[in-house]
Amino acid sequence: MEPLKDYFINLYEQKIDYDKDEFFRHFEKFIILLNSGRVRAAEPVDDRWKVHRWVKYGILLGFKHGDSKDFSLNSTFRYFDKHTYPLNPVQISDQVRIVPGGTTIRTGCYVAAGVVIMPPAYINVGAYVGANSMIDSHALVGSCAQVGERVHLSAASQIGGVLEPVGALPVIIENDVLVGGNCGIYEGTVISKGAVIGAGTILTRSIPVYDLVNEKIIRADQNNGLVIPENAVVIPGSRPVVKSEFAKKENIQSACALIVKYRDSKTDRTVALEEALR
Ligand SMILES: CC(C)(COP(=O)(O)OP(=O)(O)OC[C@H]1O[C@@H](n2cnc3c(N)ncnc32)[C@H](O)[C@@H]1OP(=O)(O)O)[C@@H](O)C(=O)NCCC(=O)NCCS
Repeated sequence: MEPLKDYFINLYEQKIDYDKDEFFRHFEKFIILLNSGRVRAAEPVDDRWKVHRWVKYGILLGFKHGDSKDFSLNSTFRYFDKHTYPLNPVQISDQVRIVPGGTTIRTGCYVAAGVVIMPPAYINVGAYVGANSMIDSHALVGSCAQVGERVHLSAASQIGGVLEPVGALPVIIENDVLVGGNCGIYEGTVISKGAVIGAGTILTRSIPVYDLVNEKIIRADQNNGLVIPENAVVIPGSRPVVKSEFAKKENIQSACALIVKYRDSKTDRTVALEEALR
């Protein structure tokens, strides 16, 4: 991995010149490694997440040096993209179910055996989806997002990416998390294992999370995104805006999120996965 890493860092930081043949020799290897899950944008090391920034560099360089290509299937089903990012070469032997109806898995991301993808869903380059996870209709797994095993991403949940707007940290959804319908998890937020994100919750670097059980406020800091603790049950909340007399007078509220409890047997019953679907 080291030669690839050094090459992409040097090229991205313009310490070496671009040479087309040399670039595509490296880029082809890189895509194969991403598709097989052997290279990841972030990975757990000793209970912490280690972010591999060079992976994002490699992906960006693939856009920069890719040419526009006509991938149209026929005269009515037309699409055009960089030639470096065609569809993922997933095979039936990979044991991924892609239910028909508009789903796209881009090349350069890993989708493990047992994953079910309901249509339409989009899994972008650099993403990683662990075994037996469910990606429901209208869900987005953004660029470089890392999704664990037995995760349920409910309908219309959006897991943000790092490419645009520019973000340094990928979103991480650990094992056995449920992300409810219409949630938005963005900007390097980490959802620790077993957490349940109630329908309609939005989490970004700017959203404070009020832990009503432990009576503390969780915020992102300069270097890290929000971290939702293990087994937390999070729901959307609001808080009064007190910055101006006008806001106070008008009783204005802004969004926050609340940890209302930690997972209990009732939560387990509510979020239980259905084996028959897998
Ligand atoms: C969070 C969730 C899993 C419930 O977990 P639970 O442990 O059974 O939680 P409870 O029902 O005990 O709720 C705890 C409190 O949070 C509130 N709450 C739960 N989910 C909420 C939500 N999404 N928005 C606002 N409040 C919510 C409840 O009203 C309750 O408040 P109270 O204690 O003041 O009465 C469930 O509400 C949820 O959002 N599930 C996701 C469903 C979904 O998106 N399915 C998609 C299928 S594609």
